[in-house]
Amino acid sequence: MAKIDLKSIKKQAQKDINSAQDLKGLNDVFNKYLGKKGELTLVLRSLEKWPKKKRIKIGKEANELQDFLKLKFDQRAEEIKEKIKKEAEEKEWIDITAPGKRIILGHLHPLTQIKRKVEEIFQSMGFTVVEGPEVETEWYNFDALNIPAEHPARDFWDTLWLKSGKPKLLLRTHTSPVQVRYMEKNSPPLRIIAPGRVFRHEATDPSHDLEFWHVEGLMVGKNISVANFKAIIQRFFQEFFKKDIKLRLRPSYFPFVEPGFEVDISCVVCDGKGCSLCKETGWVEIMGAGMVHPNVFKKSGLNPKDWQGFAFGIGLDRLTMMRYKINDIRLFREGDLRFLEQF
Ligand code: FA5
Repeated sequence: MAKIDLKSIKKQAQKDINSAQDLKGLNDVFNKYLGKKGELTLVLRSLEKWPKKKRIKIGKEANELQDFLKLKFDQRAEEIKEKIKKEAEEKEWIDITAPGKRIILGHLHPLTQIKRKVEEIFQSMGFTVVEGPEVETEWYNFDALNIPAEHPARDFWDTLWLKSGKPKLLLRTHTSPVQVRYMEKNSPPLRIIAPGRVFRHEATDPSHDLEFWHVEGLMVGKNISVANFKAIIQRFFQEFFKKDIKLRLRPSYFPFVEPGFEVDISCVVCDGKGCSLCKETGWVEIMGAGMVHPNVFKKSGLNPKDWQGFAFGIGLDRLTMMRYKINDIRLFREGDLRFLEQF
């Protein structure tokens, strides 16, 4: 019969247990000695073949070794678990004395910056800033502004209609509806500006987008005239560009004003020499304006015999383009950080 060397099994098993680095490795060692076909298991199974005296002696020693190894396995398993826990804790460790990582701050979009600047200037002249809805009813966008259904003036604005029931809804084509909404609830004298996004179904080019910003203006009192309009708007441009700007009023037609005019300013990008923004003319159409039409007063619940005033609608995007010398309106909404980070 083969000689049973429990001493060398013990020695080798202890060595293997100590060199196991993880629970899987330790399990392999366990199987090597105490698994179904483990070395010590085979010894225990072979005992019956030995004479009684020898069987008792070896059996006792083998059982003691089995208990001893089990204890060693348990101890090593605890050590390994402790090691894993410690390593995980070390990974989670935070050095509270380490310098913080710099947070990169964003900044306001150039259109928002300019909107705020415009608001500031008008507020300094006594105007209140008000807002209206971007999804507007047909009534406020057209009818209340003296543009009934079937009126050809509706074609001035390529409108984005919403698929809805009654009342018919649309994405507002201008901020002029805010005039009516405000006058319905507030009695003159009044001065307001209403900045906001407007939408048109238009082909885009360097100076036209299908979403852009308007700043509506409205001043109503007993004797407000075109002269007041010119003075206010001249002062506004002077403050805004910090230099003398030439103004040009061209007769124009908007159904909600009478008389109506288009206001051009000398192009600040090319100083009147000609560029893509002013289409080589030296002038940029910046706003529509005029004296509030009596029908608009009536639709807002005011008596046109008691009140008169002016209204205007500035294209904020074009104003921003001139302020920052930007030659394509479409850059504002492309979300390209290389562009936006310059402001
Ligand atoms: C209007 O929308 C009138 N509601 C303005 C108004 C208000 C007139 C009160 C009278 C009284 P208009 O369609 O011209 O007008 O637009 C006003 C300004 O918006 C224009 O002068 C121009 O600066 C700008 N604008 C017009 N279309 C576009 C476009 N597609 N992209 C960028 N800016 C535009």
